[in-house]
Amino acid sequence: MPRKNIAAGNWKMNKNYEEGLVLARNLLVKSSASDALMILATPFIHLKEVGEIIKGQPHLRLAAQNCHPEKSGAYTGEISLDMLKSVGVTHVILGHSERREYFHESNELLAQKVNAVLENGLTPIFCCGERLDIREAGTHVSYVADQIKESLFHLSAEDFGKIIIAYEPIWAIGTGVTASPEQAQAMHREIRQMIAGKYNATVADNCSILYGGSVKPGNAVELFGQPDVDGGLVGGASLKAEDFCAIYDAFGKSES
Ligand code: 13P
Repeated sequence: MPRKNIAAGNWKMNKNYEEGLVLARNLLVKSSASDALMILATPFIHLKEVGEIIKGQPHLRLAAQNCHPEKSGAYTGEISLDMLKSVGVTHVILGHSERREYFHESNELLAQKVNAVLENGLTPIFCCGERLDIREAGTHVSYVADQIKESLFHLSAEDFGKIIIAYEPIWAIGTGVTASPEQAQAMHREIRQMIAGKYNATVADNCSILYGGSVKPGNAVELFGQPDVDGGLVGGASLKAEDFCAIYDAFGKSES
C-alpha cells in the first residue's frame, strides 16, 4: 500500500472520561475530512465510546497506546489485543520512549508486541528515537537503526509493509524544542534507506514515517512538507481540538 499522510494524537495519561469524549466529539465536528488519516490514541477507558463517536468516518481511526503480547491470562493491569479489537481499535502505539524508559520495554519485548499486533490484524505504530546525550555524541543514526533492526527487521517484507514508524527524538518530546525540519528529514531519510537496504525501495517508499516531538500548528506545515516526513505523532497539541485539527490540515500546504 502506498504511504499515507497521518496525524496521530497520543493523549498519553490525560483527560478523564467525560473530558475525553468532549475532545473526540469536538474533533469530529471540527475536522474536515481529507485523504490524510487522523488517528486517536486515547487512554483505554475512552476507546469504546470514542470508537462509537468516530464510527463510519473514513478519515478517523482508533488506537491504543500499548498492549500485552500474550493472548490472555494472569497479567494484572494489562490489556490484550483481543480486548482492544473488540472495541474497534485498529492501531497500537508500541515502544513509545516513555514506555521504554518508565516501564523498561526492551527492543526484544517490542518485537514480541509487534508480532502480536500483526497476528491480530492490527497496525503497529512503532516508535523510535534517541536521547539528547546520544544526539550530542553523534551516534543517533546507529542508535535508531538498532531499535528498528532489533524490533522490526525479523518481519517479512509483506508484514513490514503494514508497519507505521514514528521517529520521536526524546529531547523534543514535551519540551517545546522541536527537531528542525532538516533534522527530522535527515533522520527520516536514514530510516527509509535502512528499510530499502533490508527489504527494497518499494517497501521503503510505501512506509509511512511520522515525526513526533513538540509538533504544533505553527511548525506542522514545514515539518510535514519534508519529503520523507509523512505526518506526526502528536502529544500535547492533540489535547486541543483546534490545535490538532490545524495540524491535520497542515498536509499539502507547504511548497518545499
Ligand atoms: P509532544 O507533542 O507533547 O512533544 O509529545 C510527543 C509524543 O510523545 C507523542 O507520542
